[in-house]
Amino acid sequence: MNESSKFGFDLFSRLPVFEKMLFENPNGPFLEIGCGKLPFLPDYLSLLGPVECIDFSENAIEFCKKHYKEGTYSKTDILDFKVINTYAMVMDAHLLHCLDSLESYKLALLNIKRCLKPGGLFLLETMTSHTQMAFELNLNYEPSNFKLYKGDRVSRLVLPSIVIEELILEAGLRIEFFKVEDGLRMIPHDNREESIPEDPQVLRLIASRPKGH
Ligand SMILES: C[S@@+](CC[C@H](N)C(=O)[O-])C[C@H]1O[C@@H](n2cnc3c(N)ncnc32)[C@H](O)[C@@H]1O
Repeated sequence: MNESSKFGFDLFSRLPVFEKMLFENPNGPFLEIGCGKLPFLPDYLSLLGPVECIDFSENAIEFCKKHYKEGTYSKTDILDFKVINTYAMVMDAHLLHCLDSLESYKLALLNIKRCLKPGGLFLLETMTSHTQMAFELNLNYEPSNFKLYKGDRVSRLVLPSIVIEELILEAGLRIEFFKVEDGLRMIPHDNREESIPEDPQVLRLIASRPKGH
């Protein structure tokens, strides 16, 4: 899997918690964060209807607009996203692991939780570390802070799944579904087409904003 592959949407859309959310909120609204250059899988979009998309990259938005004309777009940094109690569902395919620190990760999760309606869902597909992980020579992984460096720059945060679980719970979200996809690997950069066993694993999760919180 490369970073442009989309969610295990088929898997998510068949889960009872997802079906219930959609039944209760047929009109959403739905938000994708870090929409990037590619639109959702068409099958999935037809389940949802129009999706609002944010990304802090103008280029990514312009590109995405061409593929997914029904969406609405805004150039926004998730770290500055201050909407509250609005969305029935927020989706992230691969933004969170692009943040450069745990502090940013926590802030992003807080903003995601706050923008959900009580009972709303957060769907996440992200990379996660494993013991056999290894990287190309121009990348350097620092296990003490989970940062994958390219030169001096933090290129990815590759967190152990247990840390992701803790951060989700710490943000006040409830975990509804949590699966490390054993056989799947995610390429941690743009320069290779095929994944290798040493690449990070793929974690898929659904969390909800508890009602009354
Ligand atoms: C690895 S790409 C994934 C793109 C797309 N979701 C996909 O799966 O193909 C990560 C995207 O998140 C965006 N992004 C990274 N940090 C962001 C932030 N703080 N706020 C908003 N967007 C961000 C990047 O511009 C990029 O488009």
